[in-house]
Amino acid sequence: MSLQTINDFSIQKTEKSKIDSIDFENVKFGTVFSDHMLVCHYKDGAWGQVEIKPYGPMQFEPSSNVFHYGQAIFEGMKAYKDDNDDVWLFRPRENWERFNKSAERLAMPQIDETRFVDGLKTLLQLDRDWVQKGKGNALYIRPFMIGTHPGVVAGPSSEFMFCIILSPARTYYSGKVKVQIAEHYSRAANGGVGYTKCSGNYAGQFYPTKLAQEAGYQQVIWTDDATHTKLEEAGTMNVFFRINDTLITAPTSERILDGVTRKSLLDIAKSKGLDVQVKSIVVNDLLEAIKKGELKEIFGAGTAVTIGQIEGFAYQDEYHQLPEIADEDSYAVMLKETLQGIQTKAIEDTFNWTEKI
Ligand code: COI
Repeated sequence: MSLQTINDFSIQKTEKSKIDSIDFENVKFGTVFSDHMLVCHYKDGAWGQVEIKPYGPMQFEPSSNVFHYGQAIFEGMKAYKDDNDDVWLFRPRENWERFNKSAERLAMPQIDETRFVDGLKTLLQLDRDWVQKGKGNALYIRPFMIGTHPGVVAGPSSEFMFCIILSPARTYYSGKVKVQIAEHYSRAANGGVGYTKCSGNYAGQFYPTKLAQEAGYQQVIWTDDATHTKLEEAGTMNVFFRINDTLITAPTSERILDGVTRKSLLDIAKSKGLDVQVKSIVVNDLLEAIKKGELKEIFGAGTAVTIGQIEGFAYQDEYHQLPEIADEDSYAVMLKETLQGIQTKAIEDTFNWTEKI
């Protein structure tokens, strides 16, 4: 393995790339990882050297904080390749800032922009062949941080590991999904951690989502914990509703993730002259709109899927199917095409969101 230093980052390249063994056409989201990863340890109140090295297993003490008290946060981002083979990141500093908000709430240390953004760019330069060209294709980026200090004393860890791994992602098209509106379970509460990307937020969703799937729905629309009437997120995504020609999404709060896709779609929709309202929307608004034939579309928005269309929802044991909508009339389709066009440089990035590595 060759060892070199760039920007004070130590770089250890793999002896043999595994890229030729990857079937990029059929890769399943989140199951295959690139040749290298970035690792950086925090100890004695400071971050150490960024190490970029071959992707592989790690060793931790069984008593490490993360296994017991769950000090763990992550981000989801993507890198795209344009027709000239240049690789682009989409609003990476938004993810870096949100990562630090999550870190603060979970009593974890802040990480600097150099280690996060420049470290990521250096890692991507090494694994740039893993970014596939073509519409919808991308390299999914998973930065994360865990508490690694050994000992089962219930308190914040004093040692942490920051790591970035990369996973090729194909066009994520799973068709429209049926969802169930949560009437009992919650993903977040006021004063809690709903606005962060802490791992426990996701683990807590698995059981209610499994119940929804057993009942024939693919995802849950999460409602506020106090009244179970306000529609807040869908699965692991922010959620948008189109009533007549108005596009509505809930305002961010302590319970709702400040999604980069969400805020980008809001800006694109406004730039297209759509009527956009960021306001709380309740179940009764939906029931009324569907009764009057005014509910046109529901879709989730997040990095992994970009936009996931919803075909209908269940509430109080009754299923409500949305009317069919042609692609050319769909806000979801138009917004997705525009966002993906900007991300892959097929459409001019007038917002200045893309960053070349
Ligand atoms: C995202 O879409 O950004 C996510 O975080 C989804 C991930 C949990 C797979």
